[in-house]
Amino acid sequence: SQKAIIFDLDGVIVDTAKFHFLAWKKLANDLGFDFTKEQNEELKGVSRVHSLKKILNWGNKELSEEEFNHQMQLKNENYLSYVNKMDKGEVLPGVQKVLDYLEEQNIPYALGSASKNARHILEKIDLKDGFDAIVDGTDVSKAKPDPEVFLIAAEKLNVAPQDCIVFEDSVAGIQAANKGKMTSIGIGEEKTLHEADYIFKDFTEISIEFLQNLLQK
Ligand code: G6P
Ligand code: MG
Repeated sequence: SQKAIIFDLDGVIVDTAKFHFLAWKKLANDLGFDFTKEQNEELKGVSRVHSLKKILNWGNKELSEEEFNHQMQLKNENYLSYVNKMDKGEVLPGVQKVLDYLEEQNIPYALGSASKNARHILEKIDLKDGFDAIVDGTDVSKAKPDPEVFLIAAEKLNVAPQDCIVFEDSVAGIQAANKGKMTSIGIGEEKTLHEADYIFKDFTEISIEFLQNLLQK
């Protein structure tokens, strides 16, 4: 049966965590507390609203609803100031090779991201046109580890969830793929992503032979 690939964006196709870090750190510092790289790690795959809730919790800070929304807007404006400087060079090593292979083999592929900035980022890195479907933070009501984002992507691709292969760098994303009965491939550390069906440090470690085998199963 027809197989398809679903890519997460942040941490899989591009490393935007470094920009999220700078923007969240500024927010925390402006509110009078610090924000660490370790804390930033815990925000991978976590929606914007939930990220701010966690950060305020770490900083022992409470905000009114109005101030909460204002801070979230400021953070995103600051984040976008970095995103707007992105170009094709930000695509992580090895990713283009995999995309080229999928194009060549006519394998459909989609984006399944929690980010509300996903379409904008894809435009900046010049990858928007290749995707057969894009599902992002503006299309879903339930955040990863809920499989909603990936299930919508599968539906849009017209491919059964069991035939979808998901690339993810976050624990919540791997859990979402598993819950959706999809094949999960973790991009990152073995100790964090052990729930994934397969784990690779990055895309340079993924061979065409591996993809071929997976797509023929
Ligand atoms: C991805 C990132 C998270 C980010 C989330 C929402 O999942 O890994 O760090 O918080 O997207 O992104 P957004 O661009 O909508 O703020
Ligand atoms: Mg991610």
